[in-house]
Amino acid sequence: MRPFDDIVRLERAEALDRPAAAIRGVVQRLLRNRALKDALHGVWLGHPLHPALAQLALGSFTSASLIDAVGGRRRESSGLIALGLISSVPAVAAGWADWSDSHEDQQRVGLVHAAVNVTALACFATALLRRRGDRSAGQVLSVVGGILSGAGAALGGHLGYRQATGANHGEEVPHVGPGDWQTLGPLEEFPLGRPVRRLAGDVPVFVLRRGGISSDVTVLSDRCPHLSAPLHEGGLSEVDGEVCITCPWHASVFRVRDGGVVHGPATAPVPGFESRVEGGVLQARVRTLPGVPAG
Ligand code: FES
Repeated sequence: MRPFDDIVRLERAEALDRPAAAIRGVVQRLLRNRALKDALHGVWLGHPLHPALAQLALGSFTSASLIDAVGGRRRESSGLIALGLISSVPAVAAGWADWSDSHEDQQRVGLVHAAVNVTALACFATALLRRRGDRSAGQVLSVVGGILSGAGAALGGHLGYRQATGANHGEEVPHVGPGDWQTLGPLEEFPLGRPVRRLAGDVPVFVLRRGGISSDVTVLSDRCPHLSAPLHEGGLSEVDGEVCITCPWHASVFRVRDGGVVHGPATAPVPGFESRVEGGVLQARVRTLPGVPAG
């Protein structure tokens, strides 16, 4: 059995669903303010915020723990623990925001990740308080906290790399999307003002026609960059004068014009396609990134 098989088993641990539902309700109530929630997801950064903040906390805790493990100077390890505790506050908030908009199997692993990390935080906070009295107890707690932080980070790595939580689910489109023009169908057959799904080669695309000429048509990837929901099933709306599409799963909002993120949880834009009308037929090809050849 491989060491990470147990984490895979956690993905199927239905016993975690009830506490997850209760906690999700609380998190969603606390994060009703959309601007705050967007900020915690990292929409302003164009990147998930939680992993960046967690690096600072984890690095501080690991360093403090190693100093205490070898009997190093108390002042340095205490400073690092304090930095870890302070940086954990926004890291934890950002983590809960991301967790509340994830799949069930991701929430199960995420719940254990959070429980392990909260226990580590309690160890470090107690270690800091014990510094003035029994130093050895503080050192032991710091080392235990470091081990737990490492375990929490392993679960976080599983969430990010194995379960693709926080990953950009549109990343591959410029790589696998068709570089040659693909026929999507006669322009007249696309309904006005209602997005539909078509295939450009093997890639599902979202097509919105707003008029009778090619510039009135937008073609985007149909997969939401957050967790791959079919975007054509979402609702259209207008935000700040821009036509936007709201993802049907976790309500990320994207500008139809360029796929840009207006509201999270998504932090990456929807990949776009170039389109043209030839002989009344709509065609599309992937809009490649500079230096990235299309498939
Ligand atoms: S799949 Fe989660 S916001 Fe689209």
